[in-house]
Amino acid sequence: MRKIVINGQKELTGEIKISGAKNSVVALIPAAILSDDKVTLYNVPDISDTRSLIDIINLLKCESSYTDETLVIDTKNIQNTLIPESLSKKLRASYYFMGALLAKFHYAEIYFPGGCNIGSRPIDFHIKGFEKLGAKVEIEGNKYIFRAEKLKGARIYLDFASVGATINIMLAACKAEGTTYISNAAKEPEIVNIATLLNNMGARISGAGTSEIRIEGVEHLHSAVIDVIPDRIEAGTYTIIGALCGKDLKITGIIEDHIDALLSKLKEMGVEYKCTINTLTISAPKEYKPVNIRTLVFPGFPTDLGQPMCALLTQTNGVSILEETIYENRIGHIKYLQKMGAHVRQENRTSIIIGPSKLKGTEVEATDLRAGACMVTAGLIAEGTTTIDNIEHILRGYENIVEKLTNVGADIKIIDDEIDKK
Ligand code: EPZ
Repeated sequence: MRKIVINGQKELTGEIKISGAKNSVVALIPAAILSDDKVTLYNVPDISDTRSLIDIINLLKCESSYTDETLVIDTKNIQNTLIPESLSKKLRASYYFMGALLAKFHYAEIYFPGGCNIGSRPIDFHIKGFEKLGAKVEIEGNKYIFRAEKLKGARIYLDFASVGATINIMLAACKAEGTTYISNAAKEPEIVNIATLLNNMGARISGAGTSEIRIEGVEHLHSAVIDVIPDRIEAGTYTIIGALCGKDLKITGIIEDHIDALLSKLKEMGVEYKCTINTLTISAPKEYKPVNIRTLVFPGFPTDLGQPMCALLTQTNGVSILEETIYENRIGHIKYLQKMGAHVRQENRTSIIIGPSKLKGTEVEATDLRAGACMVTAGLIAEGTTTIDNIEHILRGYENIVEKLTNVGADIKIIDDEIDKK
């Protein structure tokens, strides 16, 4: 089993370049199959989610080539093949093939999606949206079957500004007859990235990035290119690490507006940073003021940064509170922070953190992707050695995390304790 081993308390200085956004690329690849021709994606991060999605489109008989973070997808021989459960279970975002295959073939068979265990994560908003567009939805065993004679534009209101539902409905509506309106749409930057690709392919989408999106259906979607936007959650994670142990740590390739909520909280805590066009330079202050945080939909404080942020909150002078409002069970990191010596009390979705506490390295595990990011962050400031198990969760969402941190002075490596035992 591969583990990450960190010897903490090193000062990190130098440059970390942010990769393309995981939560964009996992939707851009399914969106690409809507083209009747070739689509080229630039700045595609080489993470396991990317590899899993390339396996899926290859199974759908799309040709693909992936070199130097450039992914070319050719859909001319595409077939609507059933995606095996073993593949679709690997990541929650396999559900984007529902909207894409429904739009392309008016038929889709997709196994129930996988994904991090951070809550029930139903997809009722997606299904209601497909039904509004004219699809019939059945459940057969543990897979959904979507059928539509034709797809007609509709007015769709989302009970919650769901990122996945907004994107999936946008995909399904692209080639529908007539116009679709999504109200209370999610406004995350990744949605703008996907809408831009679809418009580059000839779709007619307006309002992406606002809560009202209009999609005028078109007959044909042609070839296109797109740049994957920088990963704001990766950028935020390294910014938090810089706030804890950076010395003029440069984080490059960021979009400042995408991490505005985090930066305003860091300012509240007394953390100073400098931002030029796409580079943030940050150093750890001597102390941190306590702060209260509530995770919200964009542009609020992102739920995906709540867990790594808890590692920083263990160092504030006083009581900090982090309330997680998006997921009901995003607490896999708490017991391991406590094991490392943090004073955290968890009340339902609220973490009450009293600092500063001296963290000590120990054996921990990544219960999910961002809990894993919290363990790496805590390990970098803990005294002694931290060993993190289940690191495949982390490698799904952080491209070259060990190399990136090693290059700025961290003592971090991946061991394989099967081999190392021999
Ligand atoms: C996306 O998940 C991201 N994943 C998540 O990132 C992120 O935390 C989330 O958006 C919120 O920003 C990807 O993009 C692959 P939602 P998604 O639909 O689309 C409930 C990470 O760490 N809901 O906005 O699944 C749902 O249960 C991951 O990178 C319904 O009830 O998020 C959750 O409580 C984790 N019914 C809330 O809404 C639905 O039909 C937010 O879900 C859909 C969602």
